[in-house]
Amino acid sequence: MDIIEILKSRSKDLEPYIVNYLKDGVPDNLMKAVRHYPQAGGKMMRPVVAMVTADAVGGKGKKAAPFGAALELIHNFTLVHDDLMDNDDTRRGFPAVHVKWDMPTAILAGDALFAKAFEILADVDVSDDKLRRLLKLTAQSVWTLAEGQQLDTNFENQPGITVKDYIGMVEKKTSVLFAAAAAGGAIVGGGTEKQVCDMYDYATLLGIAFQLWDDVIGLTGEEKTTGKPIGSDIRNGKRTAIVINALGKGGRGHPLFDELNSILGKADASDEEVRRAIEILDSLGSIEYAKDRAQRYAKCARDKLDCLPESDHKRFLLALADFAVTRKS
Ligand code: IPE
Ligand code: IPE
Ligand code: MG
Ligand code: MG
Repeated sequence: MDIIEILKSRSKDLEPYIVNYLKDGVPDNLMKAVRHYPQAGGKMMRPVVAMVTADAVGGKGKKAAPFGAALELIHNFTLVHDDLMDNDDTRRGFPAVHVKWDMPTAILAGDALFAKAFEILADVDVSDDKLRRLLKLTAQSVWTLAEGQQLDTNFENQPGITVKDYIGMVEKKTSVLFAAAAAGGAIVGGGTEKQVCDMYDYATLLGIAFQLWDDVIGLTGEEKTTGKPIGSDIRNGKRTAIVINALGKGGRGHPLFDELNSILGKADASDEEVRRAIEILDSLGSIEYAKDRAQRYAKCARDKLDCLPESDHKRFLLALADFAVTRKS
C-alpha cells in the first residue's frame, strides 16, 4: 500500500476548503504568510485520518473533509509558531514564515490560520449535537497542544527529565491533533462510542510513535527530504527520548557524556559539533532505542483498530502506523 499516494489522492477533497477559505483577505503580506505553509503542502496525515476513520466506521469520509481541513489549518498554525519558538529557519523545504517575513507577521499568520479553522468547522454537515462535540474536541486539543509546547520548551536543557515526562509531553504537543482527527472522524461517520474512544486511543499511540520517529529523522534524515533543519533539537537542548536515554547512560566524568553535554543546548554549535553529537548518540545506542520505542508504540496503535470491521479503510489505518515509523519525511 502506497501511503503517500493515498494521502495525496484523499487530500483532493480538502482543497476546496483550504484554498477557498484562504483566498481573500488583507493586507497582502499577512495573506501571503497565511498561505505559505498550506501552499508548500505537508503530508496531510491528520485530515486524511479524519476522513478515513469516518469511512472505516461506516460513514462517508467526504463528510469529514471540512473537519479535517480545519485540523490541517490548526496544524499549520502550530507549525508557524513552533518554528518561531524553535528558531528553525526552514519548513517543508521553504524559508519559515518568521524568516521570509518577520516575527510579528508569523504570530499573526498563526492566529489567522487558527481563526479560519473554526470558520471551516462550522461547515461540517452534521447534527447540532455532533457539531458541538467537534467544536469542544477541537478547542480542547489546541489548549492541550499549548500545554505540550510549553512543556517542550520548559524541558530544554533541564536535568532529570525522564522518558515518562517526554511521553506525557508528546501526548500533549503531538498526539492530541491526531486523536482529535480520529475521534472526530468517528463522530462524523456515526461510529459507536466504543469506536470513538478506541480511535482516540489509536491516534494517541500513533502520535507518540510518530513523534519518536520524527525526532530520529530530525537527526539522521536529509534536510532536502525532511524540509526542516537537521540537528535543531541538539542546538536547542531538547529533551527527546534519544537524548534522555543517552544522558541516562553516562555518569559525569565519562568522556562521551562530557563531550555530548558540551554540545547539547549550544545554540551556535557548528555543523561539525552537531554531527559529533549525533555520532555519540548513535554510538550509545540511543537512536536505536528511540526507533524501537517508536515501533512498539506503532504496534500498540494497530492493536486498537480491532474495534473496526475489515475494510480497505482499516487496512490503510493499520499501514499508516507502519508508515509513521518508517517514513523519511
Ligand atoms: C510535523 O508534523 C510536526 C510534528 C508533530 C513533528 P508533520 O510531519 O505531519 O508535518 P507536515 O504537515 O507533513 O509538514
Ligand atoms: C512538533 O514540534 C509539535 C508541534 C508543532 C505542535 P517539533 O518542534 O518537535 O516538530 P518539528 O521538528 O519542528 O516539525
Ligand atoms: Mg519544531
Ligand atoms: Mg517544537
